[in-house]
Amino acid sequence: MLMNRRRWLVTSSAAAGAGLLAGRSALAALPKRELEPAIRALPIRLHFNENPYGISPKARAATSAAFGESGQYDSPAMEELAALIAEQEKVPADHVFVASGSSEVLALAGLAYGLAGGEVVAPAPTFEGLTGYVRAVGGYVHDVPVNDKMVLDLDAMDRRTTGAVRLVFVCNPNNPTGTIVPGDKLRAFCESASRRAVVFVDEAYHEFVEDPSHRSMVSMVRDGHNVIVSRTASKIHGMAGLRIGFGIARPDIIRRLQGLMMSFPNVLAARAAIASYRDPEYQALSRSRTREAKRYLYGVLDDMKLKYVPSHTNFVLFHTGKPIQAVHKAMLEKGVMVGRPFPPFMDWCRVSMGTMDEMKLFASAFREVMRA
Ligand SMILES: Cc1ncc(COP(=O)(O)O)c(C=O)c1O
Repeated sequence: MLMNRRRWLVTSSAAAGAGLLAGRSALAALPKRELEPAIRALPIRLHFNENPYGISPKARAATSAAFGESGQYDSPAMEELAALIAEQEKVPADHVFVASGSSEVLALAGLAYGLAGGEVVAPAPTFEGLTGYVRAVGGYVHDVPVNDKMVLDLDAMDRRTTGAVRLVFVCNPNNPTGTIVPGDKLRAFCESASRRAVVFVDEAYHEFVEDPSHRSMVSMVRDGHNVIVSRTASKIHGMAGLRIGFGIARPDIIRRLQGLMMSFPNVLAARAAIASYRDPEYQALSRSRTREAKRYLYGVLDDMKLKYVPSHTNFVLFHTGKPIQAVHKAMLEKGVMVGRPFPPFMDWCRVSMGTMDEMKLFASAFREVMRA
């Protein structure tokens, strides 16, 4: 998946801008009058659903404090982190494993269940961390299109889960559509499908969801079902570059996945994650900033009379009516990076929520692109 992203980044002429990205973290320190010109000089990253504010001050401090442990292989941080997540998710400690981002959990499951012709059912479009790996190791993916509301078609996915299928992938909320499936319906689906195959539920954006009908499928793991849930510190915690994610599953499933791991995460990232997961205020702040940016974006799109999919995440998929490759290129020329193409929605655009300053710059660039 990361390779797909990198390939897209490079082939879409963004490479020239990429060298400048490292400088963005310095922006926060600038006085207000210098902020706007500085933002204009660097590409605005609204293409990877990152948290534009980055890691919390507490996580940053914990990272620095962890250097003393960085000479050792066996820091207790990894176990402490797994125990913290287990406590917060109300599962036993041996039901959680820490990985280098949830992409690693997705890849491990893709490998374990997709190898040598393993069949997997997945929505389309969706995040390709797991399905891409299945294809790479010679497995087969049954793509099940989302419905006309861009919501996963669980009935169709259930019908496709026949004897040869080893894993069913659910992304809730789904990337790139931003939609959720109601918790009760998803639970019933998982109960049924997990009797025939392992159900993998990717909950990368779980913490952004404010709709009361949403449910985490960790409850299915707690009840002993054949279900794997993945979570990540990359999104609401703003730690995408530090690479921490989790798999939550029964110990027998975890052993199978962990047996295929190629490495393990680093102690600085683990210490940062411990601090961040203990900091509910930072998560609430990320959520409210995201809500504010989304409200602003919806206003712009309403004003432009463009259709969008109401989102439960930190990104929004909206209809431009123009080929995404052209919109992407034109936006990039104005210094704004937006999402890559998500077939079959080739005249839609996915944009991630940035800071309010970034959203305003996005809006003025986008208005110009649509007028051209
Ligand atoms: C649905 C989904 N799952 C997983 C990931 C990967 O996140 P991580 O940084 O934890 O590997 C992403 C990242 O964009 C995502 O959108």
